[in-house]
Amino acid sequence: MTDSASAGGSERYETIEVERAVPVALVRLNRPQALNALSTQLMEELLDALRRLDRDEEVRAVVLTGNGRAFAAGADIREMAERSAVEMELEDRFATWDAIRSIKKPLIAAVNGYALGGGCELAMMCDIIIAAETATFGQPEIAIGVIPGAGGTQRLTRAVGKSAAMEMILTGDPISARRALELGLVSRVVAPEVLLDEALRLARRIAERPPVAVRLAKDAVNRAFETTLSEGLAYERRNFYLLFATEDQKEGMRAFMEKRPPQFRGR
Ligand code: HXC
Repeated sequence: MTDSASAGGSERYETIEVERAVPVALVRLNRPQALNALSTQLMEELLDALRRLDRDEEVRAVVLTGNGRAFAAGADIREMAERSAVEMELEDRFATWDAIRSIKKPLIAAVNGYALGGGCELAMMCDIIIAAETATFGQPEIAIGVIPGAGGTQRLTRAVGKSAAMEMILTGDPISARRALELGLVSRVVAPEVLLDEALRLARRIAERPPVAVRLAKDAVNRAFETTLSEGLAYERRNFYLLFATEDQKEGMRAFMEKRPPQFRGR
């Protein structure tokens, strides 16, 4: 079932592992000795893997997790520590982060441990976050003299509201998985030993649905964070109409009327 080679080959990556288990795939951040700190190389490899999986018709949802004690403990501090502002700007390390936004398939973050700084931001770039009871979330950048730089001030605020986001970002103090659930940052908290099973089960559930509709649904939900209600509703309506151009819409509605399970083909 698992077939890493045809995902482009996990062996070509040094900082991540890719397991293709169609109709889903599992990507593991794999620098456990540095708590999966998000180095430039790791982010480039992650983007490459996600792009390949996005183009892979047999893969319909992707789970992202971390090996070891962390999901990711942030951007790689060692890599950034001595950079000047101009070097940081010219290096444009956020280009890879920005490109992850264009992944069309559902991304599920299975947060197994620390999701701090860029790690929390990466989880928030995913479409759904599931956490182990032992996970912690935080934006500790303030404690090392900076602020979140990969979307934390914007996405955390949208996810948990101003007051809780301000507390986390101004103090740098982490929150527990339970608190993250209470605040709506994550959709479920589960025992650590079942985290991956739960995330993969959810991914497989989504993978049963018509893939074009799934992509356009993700696209429409994400639009909610970008626009006014009227524009968002018009955007949703266009995606809704567009789905009537798919074979899967005809199949889905006919199967309902014929009282049989649908056979979706992604067309
Ligand atoms: C580089 C890191 C790292 C990081 C941990 N390590 N986090 N290396 N960048 N962000 C390394 C440590 O240096 C150490 O390496 C090893 O991982 C284990 O970490 P320890 O600190 O020894 O573990 P522990 O005492 O259990 O503490 C865990 C921790 C702590 C609380 C998560 O590691 C920590 O506070 N990490 C930094 C968290 C952080 O500030 N993140 C925000 C980064 S800035 P050695 O070689 O000593 O064993 C950011 C900006 C985003 O993310 C902008 C996007 C580009």
